[in-house]
Amino acid sequence: MSDSTPSFESVLAAVRAAGDAASLRALEREQLGKEGPIAALLASIPTLPPESRKEAGQRANRMKSELAAAVAERLQQLEEAQLAAERSGAGFDATLPAARVERGSLHPLTQVTRELEDLFTSMGYTVLDGPEVELDWYNFEALNIPRDHPARDMQDTFRCDPAGNVVLRPHTSPVQVRAMERMRPPFRAIAPGKVFRQESTDASHEHTFHQMEGLVVGKDISVGHLIGAMKTLLRGVFGREIEIRLRPGYFPFVEPGFELDARCPFCKSGCRVCKQSTWIELLPCGMVHPNVLRAGNIDPAEWSGFAFGLGLSRLVMLRHGIDDVRHLLSGDVRFLEQFR
Ligand code: DAH
Repeated sequence: MSDSTPSFESVLAAVRAAGDAASLRALEREQLGKEGPIAALLASIPTLPPESRKEAGQRANRMKSELAAAVAERLQQLEEAQLAAERSGAGFDATLPAARVERGSLHPLTQVTRELEDLFTSMGYTVLDGPEVELDWYNFEALNIPRDHPARDMQDTFRCDPAGNVVLRPHTSPVQVRAMERMRPPFRAIAPGKVFRQESTDASHEHTFHQMEGLVVGKDISVGHLIGAMKTLLRGVFGREIEIRLRPGYFPFVEPGFELDARCPFCKSGCRVCKQSTWIELLPCGMVHPNVLRAGNIDPAEWSGFAFGLGLSRLVMLRHGIDDVRHLLSGDVRFLEQFR
């Protein structure tokens, strides 16, 4: 070793005085590493006169093991000291404020879905689930929308395969047919869930949104039953009696089909929400078409039913005065925090 390099004794002293594991490891790398002084010493041995090689080799190896032992010992001391400090509570300040725990909340769509599930189960409805990736049969055929029927274009459906046998469901109505396959009449069921449409998004259009399908099948089910159920639904959502009206509406799976309007819950004489008309188009519905009952293996001569398709996303927007549907699935915490 040249004069400018620290003596072996001072290196040993530095190891024994190392204040923490990181600086100790650095020192170890510097002294015992491939580029270190001991490695250099060992590498120089072949250049020494033969009679002094043995002694020089032994000396270098002694230094190496002595240093390694000193490092191991100091490391252990440092670990023990740290453990002892942790056990004694040193460095722990009981007066520091605790880390803030962020409180989460249910999404407004989840809130309204759960409320409606409670309401409908209290009236004897079963809550059903259906696949979001759906077969053409359930989505169209069984709902009285054969191939080449213009009603296929009523919604812009995402197709999953070139033949179009598999789609992302554009409405929850296919669950009607799945319900009829699973349950024998009389029965009542709702099916809330996500639906998808291929359309340009804007404040009132989103490619993914939520609906809730309803289906009741029984003996002599009439439009009167439909109106009664819809009034109960609105009372549950708005907390009071809401006037309604039915207009004719066309959907291939119901006959007659209706658009149900609700008297605007926010004004008496017209406002922005009801576009000054005092009526809000809320919910399409109707009496289940005999062809749909047949597709579900139910005899239309014996049974009848009604169905409705509630736009859950729209309902949430109405309820909270949300002016852009794209907020709902944005995942923006600043939006969600408002519904705690
Ligand atoms: N599935 C229809 C849509 O998304 C909505 C609908 C209309 C559902 C009438 C129904 C119904 O159950 O009876 O456009």
